[in-house]
Amino acid sequence: MNKRTILGSALAGAALMCGGMAMVQASRAQAPAAQTPVLEVRADQVKGKSSPILHGLMTEELNYSYDGGLYAEQIRNRNFKEVPRLPRGRGGQQTPDANAPRQDGLVYWSLVQTGGGSGAMAPDKSQPMNQAMTNSLKLTVESAYANQRVGISNEGYWGMAVRPKTQYKATVWAKGGDGFTGPLTFALVSTDGKTVYAQARIPKITGSYSKYEATLTTAANAPETKDACFQIWAGGKGTVWLSFASLFPPTYENHGLRPDIMQMFADMRAKFLRFPGGNYVEGDNLENRWNWKATVGPMWERPGHWSPWGYWSSDGLGLLEYLEWCEDLDMEPVMAVYSGYSLDRKSVPAGEPLIPYVQDALDQIEYTIGDTGTKWGAQRAKDGHRAPFRLTYVEIGNEELLGRSGYAERYAQFYEAIKAKYPKLQIISAVPEVYKIGSKIPDVVDDHHYMSPPGMLGMWNLYDKYDRSNPQLFIGEWATRLVNGSPLTPPLQYGLTDAVGVLSFERNSDKILMQSYAPLFTNVNPGAHQWTCNLIGYDVLHSYGGVSYYVLKMFGQHHGDTILNVEGQDVGTREVPMRGPGINPNDPRMRTVPALYFSATRDSASGTIYLKVANPFETPQTVRVKVAGVSKIAPEGQLVELKGTSLEDTNSITDRTKIVDTLAKADGLGTDFTRNFPAYSFSVLLLKSK
Ligand code: AHR
Repeated sequence: MNKRTILGSALAGAALMCGGMAMVQASRAQAPAAQTPVLEVRADQVKGKSSPILHGLMTEELNYSYDGGLYAEQIRNRNFKEVPRLPRGRGGQQTPDANAPRQDGLVYWSLVQTGGGSGAMAPDKSQPMNQAMTNSLKLTVESAYANQRVGISNEGYWGMAVRPKTQYKATVWAKGGDGFTGPLTFALVSTDGKTVYAQARIPKITGSYSKYEATLTTAANAPETKDACFQIWAGGKGTVWLSFASLFPPTYENHGLRPDIMQMFADMRAKFLRFPGGNYVEGDNLENRWNWKATVGPMWERPGHWSPWGYWSSDGLGLLEYLEWCEDLDMEPVMAVYSGYSLDRKSVPAGEPLIPYVQDALDQIEYTIGDTGTKWGAQRAKDGHRAPFRLTYVEIGNEELLGRSGYAERYAQFYEAIKAKYPKLQIISAVPEVYKIGSKIPDVVDDHHYMSPPGMLGMWNLYDKYDRSNPQLFIGEWATRLVNGSPLTPPLQYGLTDAVGVLSFERNSDKILMQSYAPLFTNVNPGAHQWTCNLIGYDVLHSYGGVSYYVLKMFGQHHGDTILNVEGQDVGTREVPMRGPGINPNDPRMRTVPALYFSATRDSASGTIYLKVANPFETPQTVRVKVAGVSKIAPEGQLVELKGTSLEDTNSITDRTKIVDTLAKADGLGTDFTRNFPAYSFSVLLLKSK
């Protein structure tokens, strides 16, 4: 969107200018370096302490990140409020999908009538269950004898995940009428209706809305399949109103999130989570902003809202779930508050009109860290979490610009109110590259960079020049990507240029406090994504990491606490063309970039030095490595390596581990040794120093 272009000022703009996928591929060697390149790790020249929370995650509801993604709910349109719409992307209004075959409220649900049973379903707004669940599905049963099935079926998020020997928790709010008192049967069924994988029976229901819960257990010989749906059958004549229906498989720490994806974060050793956006915190307009108060409490009291990415958000993953996600993985929450600005470019003016939104932010913080004697701390305890969470960082909005919409004044109002009550909190500014906002020096500034592959190579020394007297930096969103033509998840080419970006963040992690790739997720089904190039892809059954996921995992697992100087000699250069798809296919210019990229850190406790080297080009590079300032490097160490044979090499939902990091012993090491860094590779050498 325009905002991106405007934001791409000095920093991003310079790099974007030279971008294009073909550029790195088409790169050619300059005159070969006369000498073997030397990397001299100066263990005696400490550049600074590396931020202990450098590597983390950024998340928002986009590409079916939560609903249909991390949030393990299997039922789509669980509160009968969704309407068929065409996704329009952020900032656009969603328009009704003229081709959608189904009615508002019934989308993703269909009628079941088998064996001669008959009935009808219709949306019904005349029987609201509460202020959030204003809609219901009215099922009228005309005939449902012993072998007949009459009911409703939910198709899930491109299927449902069935696994053997697994317990699913079904929760349904329903009431009967016109003589119907039960039974109801909940069932996990194959999509052709022929195989029942698990079922449970509710013998009786009442005439007012009540919650009915049951556990559905699959047999040991059940298949692993996504070819499944959830059905509710009514065993008698009359009417049933259904207001809410949910089905959960087992989740990570019982907090509603998918274990496979959570394990991927644990493996990355992510240290923080930036949430809830991104554009998601802003919303398309004030009404559809991320209103945290509507995202807490029981699932059936959360109304849901339109996400700016063109689809309905159930808000099942709400403030409490974000905080539990952080706690379960020992991550620092980096929590955004709504700043009064939305994607329709309207803002709430600073002063009186902004007061309710500043109060919402204070309440959000109180919910997070207030004790149970406070209003919102008590609410958190009621919601199931007595102890306050940890919180240090609060960001005011997302990707704002000075001057456009009064950010300086709005920022100041939030800053003063938050600091007055919580002086220890660090307030992050959402205006990149601006280090003073009005009279305020932000504690941290959030910079964003989406770059073409050669653009990302251009990031290499960007932050070396950063004025150390400026505030700390948060690279809150970044990725190698093209606006047009990027794949769904990063292939090897992007993984390697992303490695270059993170090497530069690591080298400057005395000032770069945190970095998070964005976006984090995509559901891979057709129609499920609004943004290309995402770190992790999944369907309802499986998940996988794009190549950059493995690169980031290598960084996270081999972080170190001290930045060491590394001097490169005779490293050589490459010329990469500035033309490329999505940029300017006819641009004749070339750009000179280094042939090799590197960084070193040390883990003080063990003395291990992590030397990281990216070779994004097609020629292997033999390098002499010297380590100064240590008396000894053990001859045997370890090598963690990621490599491929083509820049297009990629992981996918059907080939999930084609390009991953591998661990091997490395020998022949010392204070002066030679190593070969393969073509298209990223390596971490673990050197044991004395
Ligand atoms: O990461 C996708 C989007 O890019 C974010 O929502 C927004 O902050 C940025 O423009």
